[in-house]
Parts: sequence; C-alpha cells; structure tokens
Amino acid sequence: MSNSTPSFKTIIVTKLDNPAGLKVGQIQFNRPDVLNALNIELMGELLRALKGFDKDNEVGCVIITGNAKAFAAGADIKEMATQSAIDMHIRDQFAVWDKIRKIKKPVIAATSGFVLGGGCELSMACDMIVAAESTKFGQPEIKIGIIPGAGGTQRLTRAIGKARAMEMILTGRMYTAREMFDAGLISRVVDDEVFLEEAQALAREIASMPPIALQMAKDAILKAFDTTIEGGLEYERKAFYLLFASDDMKEGMNAFIEKRKPLWKGK
Ligand code: CAA
Repeated sequence: MSNSTPSFKTIIVTKLDNPAGLKVGQIQFNRPDVLNALNIELMGELLRALKGFDKDNEVGCVIITGNAKAFAAGADIKEMATQSAIDMHIRDQFAVWDKIRKIKKPVIAATSGFVLGGGCELSMACDMIVAAESTKFGQPEIKIGIIPGAGGTQRLTRAIGKARAMEMILTGRMYTAREMFDAGLISRVVDDEVFLEEAQALAREIASMPPIALQMAKDAILKAFDTTIEGGLEYERKAFYLLFASDDMKEGMNAFIEKRKPLWKGK
C-alpha cells in the first residue's frame, strides 16, 4: 500500500498494490464523528481524488469506503438546514455528482453500517456495491421533509423497480444488505470482518483486466440506462469494433492462441 496523500482533510486516499495487474485506488471517508456525512468539502475532495485516479496510469480500479459504523449517513444536514431554496439553487451542491458519473474507470462501493440518503445515492453512483452483512441501506429524506436529491428517485427505481423504490423512499425505512441483495441493488453481501478485503480482491481482479476494454464495457453498460435497446445495441457494437484498434485486443487474442498470459499495455 502506498502512502495516503496529505492534501485531503475529509478523505484518506491510498493506492493498493496488485501483483496481478494495475493498482487499486482506495478512497476512505474520514468524518467519523458525523457518520461520514457528505458535506460540500468532502464531495469536492472525493471528486478530486476520483479524477486523480482516473488519470493515473498505475490505477485500474477504484474503491470508495467508509468505516464500520457508516459508509455515509447522507448529505450533511447541518450544512443544509439554514439554506433557502435560492441558496440551494445558487450553490447547486449536487452538480458535482454528475461529474462522478463521468469517471471512466470502474468504481466499487465497499459499504458497512449506515448507507443513508446521499450515502445510498453515492453507493448507487458507483458501478458495483459490495456490502458487509451489517450494512443498512435507506433513503430517509422524507423524515426530514425533503426527498432524495442526488439521484435516489432515479437510480434506485432503475435498480430495484418502482414498487420497492416507492416503499423505500416513501417510508424512509432502513433495509438490510440481504434485502438489498435480493432486490438487485448490490452485487455481493459478505461478512463484516472481511468486507473490505473482499471488495479489494474484486477490485484487484478487475484491475488486472485490459484497461481500455474495462472502460468501454463500463461505458456501454451505463448506456443501457439512458437509451433505447436499439441505440444501446448499436453503441455496444461500435465499442466492440473500436476495441479491434487496441494493442490489448491483439495481445489478448494472441495470448489465448499461444496459451500464455497476456501482458496488457493499456493502449
Ligand atoms: N448530517 C449531519 N450530521 C449527521 C448526519 C447527517 N446526515 N448523520 C449523522 N450525523 C451526526 C449526528 O448529528 C451526530 O452528531 P453529534 O454527535 O454532534 O450530535 C453524529 O453524526 C452521530 O449520529 P447519531 O448520534 O444520530 O447516531 P445514531 O447511531 O444514534 O443514529 C442515524 C444514526 C440513524 C444514522 C442518525 O444519525 C440519522 O438518522 N442520521 C441522518 C440520516 C439522514 O437523514 N440522511 C439523509 C440526509 S439528507 C440527504 O442525504 C439528501 C440527499 O439526497 C443527498
């Protein structure tokens, strides 16, 4: 593991070695006193760290995590409580979230404890969620007189369907990792003691794949959320054909034929 960068106050940023391929970038929220409430400073730092990893040729996959008690208990209520509608419109604090969606490398949320409100929305903005058994997911905004504002009504509905999203958002109740697994929101539920190691192992496995193909695959999957099936299939096919221009495609196929391990160039 390489050292965390000292230029962040609300997150801890590290790079994890990966004998099988590129490194894993890890971002850990570091506001434990407020259950990692996502204030404006933290979201700015998160985006800066994500963009840094996206440009870093040593990194193949990114993990976002919290601590045992909370991944994140939502947007920082104390920071929002005194704002007017016009204040919220002017500072447009959720605009930064759109930029998270533009990160090209795969991003895994490794969750534990509370994953509420903006925390749940942030986990859904990631590409996969690996959840500790004790994770509690919820969109409790309704209980404080608002609604999800960072994608909850849209991403949750697409992920688990209208009826379940309605129940979750209209009651504000918390749901277990198992319930969310059954609903299709998350890709794995793992023991509390090893959830981060499991997420890191998954990230290392992904980071050992050819980087350009990874990015094209992610991009094509995300297309499924905002296009028709015809448009999506067309997009996928173009991306597939485009990969035939990459060195890694030639290396991958030659390595298969020559019965050896491929050596990726990321080109
Ligand atoms: N914002 C700011 N501070 C928060 C916070 C949040 N979202 N969640 C927890 N905290 C703070 C608490 O105020 C408390 O601070 P103090 O010690 O200074 O009082 C500290 O974290 C510990 O919290 P609790 O004492 O409440 O811990 P608990 O174990 O009793 O309860 C909890 C845990 C059920 C998660 C409870 O803290 C809670 O309900 N938090 C708010 C959850 C929420 O409503 N999230 C949605 C926010 S709005 C949003 O996210 C909008 C959006 O769409 C982006």
